[in-house]
Amino acid sequence: MSSRNDSDRMIFNFNFDEYVDFETYRKRGGFSGMQKALAGNPISVIDQIRLSGLRGRGGAAFPAGTKIDMVRNNQEEERYIICNADEGEPGTFKDRFIMTHLPYQLLEGIIISAYAAGAEQGFIYVRHEYPEAQKEMRKAIKIAEEAGYLGDNILDSGFSLRLEIFSGAGSYLCGEETALLSSIEGKKGRPRVKPPYPTVSGLREKPTLINNVETLANIPKIIANGAEWYRAIGTDDSSGTKLISLSGDVKKRGLYEVPFGTSFHEIIYSYGGGPKDGREIKAVNIGGASGVLIPPELLHVSLEYGSCAEAEITIGSGAIFVLDDTRDILDNVHNRLRFFLHESCGKCTPCREGLRQASILLERIREGTSADGDIEKLERYTNAMQDASFCGLGQAAGNSLKSSLKYYRSEYLQPGMAAMHEKEKVTV
Ligand SMILES: Cc1cc2nc3c(=O)[nH]c(=O)nc-3n(C[C@H](O)[C@H](O)[C@H](O)COP(=O)(O)O)c2cc1C
Ligand code: SF4
Repeated sequence: MSSRNDSDRMIFNFNFDEYVDFETYRKRGGFSGMQKALAGNPISVIDQIRLSGLRGRGGAAFPAGTKIDMVRNNQEEERYIICNADEGEPGTFKDRFIMTHLPYQLLEGIIISAYAAGAEQGFIYVRHEYPEAQKEMRKAIKIAEEAGYLGDNILDSGFSLRLEIFSGAGSYLCGEETALLSSIEGKKGRPRVKPPYPTVSGLREKPTLINNVETLANIPKIIANGAEWYRAIGTDDSSGTKLISLSGDVKKRGLYEVPFGTSFHEIIYSYGGGPKDGREIKAVNIGGASGVLIPPELLHVSLEYGSCAEAEITIGSGAIFVLDDTRDILDNVHNRLRFFLHESCGKCTPCREGLRQASILLERIREGTSADGDIEKLERYTNAMQDASFCGLGQAAGNSLKSSLKYYRSEYLQPGMAAMHEKEKVTV
């Protein structure tokens, strides 16, 4: 496993204050993956990505090579590539960093993936709140076109790619891939029924490859250095590194590139410097608003898809928010519920009504006016949202609530109720 100081074994290896321009990127070996890919054939590019074990970094962790192959294996000639740069998950700021500091690494990843998928048109869907990222990506596209790296017949390979920036309009839900497609098509940004998946029927009903910014920016090094090289980073279960957006009550908040297999304890204490002086960690939120709250006793778990699944931790987009002992768990959970209530499109009842009712109940509990059975009701609503919501927003909206009921149940009990529960425990 690579150490965190092993710069040759990093994918981004960034310096926070440095903007890597076109010439600098090229001098450091940038675009060699693209040249290698274009000199070979799409199938061997897909094989390398598949062998690398790269999984999507946008939240669902779907194998990247398999997804490209699904798009490639379509009869339709017209295909699209879309880079999902909506980055709506609260507390996540990695994609913005890539676009504003490493734009050519992202462009190279998009070009290689488009070539492998056979997509000759594409969009980078950047959230409206990121004007600087939009500007940087527009500039990078123009410079790459002038160099012959984008546009018609790239480097005389016979492959062409036309890339445009599409600005989102401030909706969290539009980060969901099918809502994003509707948004580009000029329709309301609402999720569609799946299947068919975008790989078969995506933009304008054509096969479409949709990947997150970080996923795509991993690809140049996989192709330049080979799948073996990539697999040596991280663990057998989860290869590569993950960009972690670390915030909350730690000494050194910021963006870190962390090899998979590193424990959450190390991320918080070694990278983040631990809690502020005199304070202790009360809880850690992993995976953003749609993620879970875990107690300090679980920090030994490794950043790894398998270990996290076993411990019921969602890595999501890699946001980690630390709450020290001055924080109110219910306030934190309530904030997340209100966020989802605001962002829910209201199309389906479990999400629309579940969020509303859960928010009312939580408010009652916080005010000290709750009734007997309110906690159990909260649990029922959370389960219903998870099981019956139409899209990922509703399915994940109750994660922090559910995990807080598991690990911080005592915080929900008002003095009278707490006494009653203690009595029940004794009776049992
Ligand atoms: C409500 C919701 C919001 C999402 N927002 C984003 C987002 O901002 N960026 C992103 O890359 N994926 C987001 N996703 C995941 C995408 O639907 C999709 O899985 C992802 O873009 C695929 O890329 P990947 O395979 O590279 O991870 C969101 C999903 C849901 C359900
Ligand atoms: S789960 Fe929520 S956001 Fe998704 S379709 Fe249903 S109401 Fe809309």
